Amino acid sequence: MHRFLLLVWILFSFYCCVTSAANAQKWRSRSIYQIVTDRFALSGPSYNTSCDPSALRYCGGTWQGIVDHLDYIQGMGFDAIWISPPFTNVEGFTPSGEAYHGYWPQNLTSYNAHFGTVDDLKNLSASLHSKGMYLMLDVVVNHMLPPNPINTTAFSSEQASANPKNFTTGVAPFTDVSYFHQPCWIGNYSNKTEVEQCWLGNETMPWADVNTEDAGVAGMLSQWISKVISDIGVDGLRLSTVKYVSQDFWKTFTNEAGVFTMGEVLSNSTNHTSAYTEVIDAVLDYPTWFKLVSAFSSPQGNLSSVVDAAVDSQQSYESGAFMTGAFLENHDQPRFGAITNDSALRANAMVWPFIYDGMPVVYYVGQEQGFSGGAVPNNHEPLWRTGYNTSHPYYKMITSLNLARKAAINSGDYFLTTPMKFLRGADGHTLAISKPPMLSLLTNAGQNFSSMVHWNITQSVFKSREQLVDVLTCRVHLSAENGGVDMVSTNGMPKVSLPFRKTIVGWSPC
Ligand SMILES: *[C@@H]1O[C@H](CO)[C@@H](O)[C@H](O)[C@H]1NC(C)=O
Ligand SMILES: *[C@@H]1O[C@H](CO)[C@@H](O)[C@H](O)[C@H]1NC(C)=O
Ligand SMILES: *[C@@H]1O[C@H](CO)[C@@H](O)[C@H](O)[C@H]1NC(C)=O
Ligand SMILES: *[C@@H]1O[C@H](CO)[C@@H](O)[C@H](O)[C@H]1NC(C)=O
Ligand SMILES: *[C@@H]1O[C@H](CO)[C@@H](O)[C@H](O)[C@H]1NC(C)=O
Ligand SMILES: *[C@@H]1O[C@H](CO)[C@@H](O)[C@H](O)[C@H]1NC(C)=O
Ligand SMILES: *[C@@H]1O[C@H](CO)[C@@H](O)[C@H](O)[C@H]1NC(C)=O
Ligand SMILES: *[C@@H]1O[C@H](CO)[C@@H](O)[C@H](O)[C@H]1NC(C)=O
Ligand SMILES: *[C@@H]1O[C@H](CO)[C@@H](O)[C@H](O)[C@H]1NC(C)=O
Ligand SMILES: *[C@@H]1O[C@H](CO)[C@@H](O)[C@H](O)[C@H]1NC(C)=O
Ligand SMILES: *[C@@H]1O[C@H](CO)[C@@H](O)[C@H](O)[C@H]1NC(C)=O
Ligand SMILES: *[C@@H]1O[C@H](CO)[C@@H](O)[C@H](O)[C@H]1NC(C)=O
Repeated sequence: MHRFLLLVWILFSFYCCVTSAANAQKWRSRSIYQIVTDRFALSGPSYNTSCDPSALRYCGGTWQGIVDHLDYIQGMGFDAIWISPPFTNVEGFTPSGEAYHGYWPQNLTSYNAHFGTVDDLKNLSASLHSKGMYLMLDVVVNHMLPPNPINTTAFSSEQASANPKNFTTGVAPFTDVSYFHQPCWIGNYSNKTEVEQCWLGNETMPWADVNTEDAGVAGMLSQWISKVISDIGVDGLRLSTVKYVSQDFWKTFTNEAGVFTMGEVLSNSTNHTSAYTEVIDAVLDYPTWFKLVSAFSSPQGNLSSVVDAAVDSQQSYESGAFMTGAFLENHDQPRFGAITNDSALRANAMVWPFIYDGMPVVYYVGQEQGFSGGAVPNNHEPLWRTGYNTSHPYYKMITSLNLARKAAINSGDYFLTTPMKFLRGADGHTLAISKPPMLSLLTNAGQNFSSMVHWNITQSVFKSREQLVDVLTCRVHLSAENGGVDMVSTNGMPKVSLPFRKTIVGWSPC
């Protein structure tokens, strides 16, 4: 009898906590494709509907549309997707347009009908799982956008108490003004209390700030997220507007969620982002992103600032730079193609997330179809207008990078747990990055560089006279006598080398 109970307990705990909870360890090998649900795919047979991002309106993308195009995503080597917040948002045309992006929640207990039914969302989760892929949901808990005008002046006055539920009519689960902070606008971003407790937006477009310091509110949000995770079958969370909510709140919330969490802390300094890695599994590595974009935006960019930023992340974050989200583009920032159209610079910058310690996060369409929209909303182009072209050079390049990373992970060389190292032998225009068994050579010389870019790596990174393959061109070359590498590039393109024998497991494009 006891033995039987023990067996039941073991089976239960295996099922509940070992098998199903997708924690940080289960995520770290993954590669994430970020989707703005409204702009990725329409339902049904692919037809061409016009969608003008500058109109700030819903364009019709759905969860079923994503299900229909999972092969397109998996074909590029991604094994996880991050989708827009799926909850019911404020309806109608606000002073800032429609909530097609999902970041203006109104009813957290219901799902955004523009994206389909809750069964479609469950079907997306099930379809992903049947392909061995993970689902990451984007969630916003900092604020709500009520349907009724908020008179912030009258918020706590007699008028408000006479009709306290007014602006929260239609809001759930926070059905009363008492669930929100007193209105005030964030004026001083160096004052943490103000950032966490005052409101984003303004009188015209107020974002009602949820009182997440309140234990009752925090408890409701914890219960809510647990239910969402089990109802839908969610493997990870991307936490929005992290710096506007206290660390204490995140600690409880992420514990309760029990799945991998990655937070958005928009800042150029690890002084600011690193504290959050104590309460969230990882952050999107914005401090490195700022340097990456500026270093590769022109041949005048400062490559050593990228090295400094990456080393800083490795040293400042709770888990080093491991598990951080490494990205070149996202829905909040101008696409890299809007910053430079130099094809060599773009290729070099695009390589970065795949050779980094963290997880690559690639923004839909951005890179694989060469879109170049600038600041919001121009970077929210509809993907269907490309016809899901799997022969675009960037689609192929991302495929190679994903497969090369997987080959490195499977090589037995501890790729996932060995911090990337910057090697000597790189001048002002070049970087040499070792993450065994991979060696990446980057340059910001650009496509018009008049002489040859030269990497002279005299340290031993490979075996002597070993056959190496540049995964971007499939060209084979040899390491030097001492295991170093001496290579040139005539067109400013990057090189990502793996020992030929390591590419056999799980990798075959060459
Ligand atoms: C998803 O829904 C479709 C019908 O729309 C169904 O054929 C398919 O089996 C469902 N997939 C999963 C994994 O539930
Ligand atoms: C907002 O409330 C204040 C104070 O009660 C009142 O004076 C003002 O007229 C109200 N504004 C609007 C637009 O209702
Ligand atoms: C809420 O108050 C606003 C004025 O502040 C008013 O225009 C609106 O009709 C009220 N809505 C409800 C549902 O009472
Ligand atoms: C929120 O959504 C749930 C589920 O659809 C619904 O039952 C509830 O009435 C909604 N709440 C409000 C305030 O509209
Ligand atoms: C902003 O807040 C910081 C930290 O609380 C404070 O030191 C600084 O004086 C404030 N700046 C202004 C302009 O109020
Ligand atoms: C920070 O902001 C809070 C709320 O606005 C305020 O009470 C406090 O005095 C500010 N602190 C500093 C140092 O400016
Ligand atoms: C309020 O915010 C909206 C949306 O961001 C913006 O368009 C508008 O200019 C702002 N109004 C003021 C008075 O700052
Ligand atoms: C970082 O961001 C802050 C605030 O936005 C800005 O004042 C500062 O100049 C930036 N620092 C660097 C090194 O880019
Ligand atoms: C981070 O903090 C250190 C030490 O206080 C300081 O020297 C450095 O300038 C800060 N960096 C940024 C980007 O704020
Ligand atoms: C490049 O950035 C580093 C900081 O990471 C700085 O120390 C160095 O002076 C910069 N070089 C140039 C040429 O601006
Ligand atoms: C879809 O429509 C756009 C704009 O009308 C056009 O530029 C594009 O070529 C079309 N794409 C396909 C795949 O038909
Ligand atoms: C590479 O660097 C080594 C050591 O600094 C030097 O001896 C060698 O001549 C260099 N090779 C080339 C081709 O520049």
